Amino acid sequence: MSLWDDLRFHHAAHAGRPILSLFDGTDRARHFSIREGGLLFDYSKTGIDARARGLLIRLAEAAGVAQRREAMFSGAKINETEGRSVLHTALRNLDGAVSVDGRDVMPEVRATHASCEAFARDVRDGRFAGQGGRITDVVNIGIGGSDLGPAMACAALAPYADGPRAHFVSNVDGAHVHDVLAGLNPETTLVIVSSKTFTTIETMTNAAAARAWMAGRVADPATQFAAVSTALDRTAAFGIAPERVFGFGDWVGGRYSVWGPIGLSLMIAIGPEDFAGFLAGGAAMDAHFRDAPFTDNMAVMLALTGIWHNQICGHATRAVLPYEQRLARLPAYLQQLEMESNGKRVAMDGTDLHMDSGPVVWGEPGTNGQHAFYQLIHQGTRVIPCEFLVGREGHEPALAHQHRLLVANCLAQSEALLRGRPLDEARSILAKKGLSGADLDRQARHRVFPGNRPSTTLAYPRLTPFVLGQIIALYEHRVFVEGVILGINSFDQWGVELGKELALALEPILAGRESAAAKDGSTRQLVEYLG
Ligand code: F6P
Repeated sequence: MSLWDDLRFHHAAHAGRPILSLFDGTDRARHFSIREGGLLFDYSKTGIDARARGLLIRLAEAAGVAQRREAMFSGAKINETEGRSVLHTALRNLDGAVSVDGRDVMPEVRATHASCEAFARDVRDGRFAGQGGRITDVVNIGIGGSDLGPAMACAALAPYADGPRAHFVSNVDGAHVHDVLAGLNPETTLVIVSSKTFTTIETMTNAAAARAWMAGRVADPATQFAAVSTALDRTAAFGIAPERVFGFGDWVGGRYSVWGPIGLSLMIAIGPEDFAGFLAGGAAMDAHFRDAPFTDNMAVMLALTGIWHNQICGHATRAVLPYEQRLARLPAYLQQLEMESNGKRVAMDGTDLHMDSGPVVWGEPGTNGQHAFYQLIHQGTRVIPCEFLVGREGHEPALAHQHRLLVANCLAQSEALLRGRPLDEARSILAKKGLSGADLDRQARHRVFPGNRPSTTLAYPRLTPFVLGQIIALYEHRVFVEGVILGINSFDQWGVELGKELALALEPILAGRESAAAKDGSTRQLVEYLG
């Protein structure tokens, strides 16, 4: 039997076992938790027992996680379908040394980091100014990995933002660029066009719109534009002066790029010192991921809970539920990180994947989600593994009582999922309220919570730049480990290409310049309606 079969057999053999029973007579909470760098990852409220954990770890070993991990950190071209190294970790380890094709990439990484830092300081201190004086607002125009990382991190680190206000435009829907620019003064706005390729249609269209907006009031709009890209020829063609173009190697994937120049808007907002704290948090998690044995390795164990829930238990989705309003964009960020990385049906060697690919990731901050979709999580027919995130402290000492309520809600949810409420308890509550007979029977059933629903909790001291860095690097490595175990390439994204091509072909059809005749009936009908 393979390890996969062993795991499935073990899961089936204990299918009805309450997770709560695993706590009986053992210090399960401690043994099924990892503490690292001030973080606590508790996976004791899952069905993973000692045998399952042992098998999962053997699975990771057999898949070659340790070897792939080393290959990644040392610059090997593990993104095989694109022939690229995967070195986002180099962006946060500026003292490190790593070579690609025999060339040390770190001098360039350090030089680009230094020029981003110098530019960020110039903007923050007013040495770089717009036509109307000191820069008050920075607009990052980008999409996907060129948007979600800095947008998520700027929201997360709002208490540290003491520079110009950061804004983000991503959608090709003109409403987005219109609404963001509407409140801004073009004479004191800096636009950063962030696009790895500098060809992405949404970004280039929005960049042109922003330039036209600025041209109405600023004599030479290009002077208030900067660019972050690997395509220096294209940034030049757009008219952005080379001293305000910040490049990075093709060995940084879009969804892993917040640590480098794509994080420029974040660096300007929070300042280079706090940005360095964010990098340090990521680097600390890298060191842990690289060195800790699998059982004590937070990223490996987070990945293995994912594999257990998705590929072994068959739960197709995973809810990410931060009890931290400022992490409101984390679920969207993780959606790209996880679904663009591990949503693949073909293995690295080109054969079909013989199991489910990565999960559907979704979520909202608690407590808001509680009043929206938790009903289904608690009483729906499908089991949805939940990943809670919660901090010990907030940034608002005067509102500490609200933070306590937030924490209480987070813990209450994972407790409710674990315990549930059995029928006899529901009946006795209703009986105390005076219900009896058939009415009590019927009403009680609606008040039953099946419980035995798995969740993990990642607890952290406070959402500082360092902690955010730890959390984001933790999830990156989790996605990596899951990808290695599934045998897929987590670093390409061919699945986004077809839609892009078809959109380009449909634009002239909608404009009436080309015929829709070759399209299917539904598309023709929609073109006729919308065109
Ligand atoms: O469409 C997918 C994608 O290629 C992402 O992987 C990437 O983050 C995003 O588009 C933006 O790409 P670019 O930075 O080249 O504009």
